[in-house]
Amino acid sequence: MLYLIGTGLFYLNDLPLRAVDLLSKADEVFMENYTNLIDMSFLGPLEKTIGKKITLIGREETENESILADADKKTVCLLVPGDPLAATTHMSLILACRKSGIKTRVVHASSIFSAIAETGLSLYKFGATVSIPLYEKNFTPDSFFDGIKNNLDKGFHTLVLLEARSEKEFVDANTAVELIKNIEKRKGLRIIDWRNVLYASRLGSDESKIGFTEKLDVDLKPPISLVIPGRLNEIEKEALDSIN
Ligand SMILES: C[S@@+](CC[C@H](N)C(=O)[O-])C[C@H]1O[C@@H](n2cnc3c(N)ncnc32)[C@H](O)[C@@H]1O
Repeated sequence: MLYLIGTGLFYLNDLPLRAVDLLSKADEVFMENYTNLIDMSFLGPLEKTIGKKITLIGREETENESILADADKKTVCLLVPGDPLAATTHMSLILACRKSGIKTRVVHASSIFSAIAETGLSLYKFGATVSIPLYEKNFTPDSFFDGIKNNLDKGFHTLVLLEARSEKEFVDANTAVELIKNIEKRKGLRIIDWRNVLYASRLGSDESKIGFTEKLDVDLKPPISLVIPGRLNEIEKEALDSIN
């Protein structure tokens, strides 16, 4: 049996009581912590509460499905930051279980895909999400711009995820804004109303921040997202007007 359990957006102790109960009864508990940054300070107390060790795993061990080795005989839990099936690749684990006749259950949790509604923009009016990765020497993709343009053409908002590998290595909001502005300039397409572009950082935490990128004058801590608004209705306009 495999349980995929979402930790929720930021604090490990936001876990629902049912998840804690499942972790207590499980034979093996793993946690991947590469698809998002969350506050891990509750890891020790959580291990104490559930009476077992939580094995931290990276991308390779998650993708090579080695955690499923005993899942036909044992109960295995995988903790995933945010919601386990939102912007993560964990559907492949469920498919692998289906092929081997291993039962699966998902415990859903709060996610950036719903929390972004805190900006006041309607979730019903978002188009495809795009991601901006950390650029490397031979890796400087700009396809996220086409995603933003396609959404704007239809009047949709765009959630822009900014890669965060650690507290020190992440795409910051100003870098992302500069990147998008440079691509706009290079393509000769002035399509974004920069006065309304928003940042959202550490949503769901006590230090969450939402504001306009043009007025950003502090260093934001990751994880960070941007929102490029499309066509606004009256309530959305009022919500944006209410942001200082
Ligand atoms: C690959 S996604 C994983 C999403 C996660 N599974 C979920 O359901 O929230 C990670 C990206 O989402 C965004 N993100 C996640 N948590 C966030 C938060 N609390 N505040 C702002 N952005 C967040 C950041 O851009 C981060 O790099």
